[in-house]
Amino acid sequence: MITALVGLPGGGKSTVGRQLAKRIGARFIDSDAVLEERIGMPIRQFFEQFGEAAFRDREEAVIDELTAEAQGAGAQALVLATGGGALLRPANRERLHNRTTVVYLRSTPEELYRRLRHDTQRPLLQVADPLAKLRELFEQRHPLYEETAHYCVDTGRPSVATLVNMIMMQLEVAGLLPAQNEQKGP
Ligand code: S3P
Repeated sequence: MITALVGLPGGGKSTVGRQLAKRIGARFIDSDAVLEERIGMPIRQFFEQFGEAAFRDREEAVIDELTAEAQGAGAQALVLATGGGALLRPANRERLHNRTTVVYLRSTPEELYRRLRHDTQRPLLQVADPLAKLRELFEQRHPLYEETAHYCVDTGRPSVATLVNMIMMQLEVAGLLPAQNEQKGP
């Protein structure tokens, strides 16, 4: 079973994903970390040297690989955090929707701006007006996240632990996880 987290940068995909994986005994993979390892440099530098389209090609290949691998019967459960722009590619939307349970961590641009205003690593936010950029990214991507996701949680107020519980409850209701009181055992 694969649970994929999607949403705008700064919404907590990696933090929530890591905790979720711990709670359900799954492996955790951050596709951006796999990409950085493959390209051998920080994503920001790759964007500067080779451009966004080249990055998206590499990203598409990594998502295909990770979701195909972890799908097989007997494969260990996986929680996959994706990059915020992954769903721009129709192939990624299709693969993630068909091969994984997609959870959209939905955040407002204003909330993300509060978290990311000092960020220096995300190439798309190194602009004069990052809030305007986040609003633009939200306009463009929110429909894609909604279209692809099986479930959606709002990241606004809840703590990481609460978000993890909310996702686990949705997975339980969908029959993808045993109920929490059953998991604890006698
Ligand atoms: C991107 C988001 C980043 C990373 C790359 C591009 C985007 O991931 O994949 O910088 O297009 O929004 P996070 O969402 O983890 O920041």
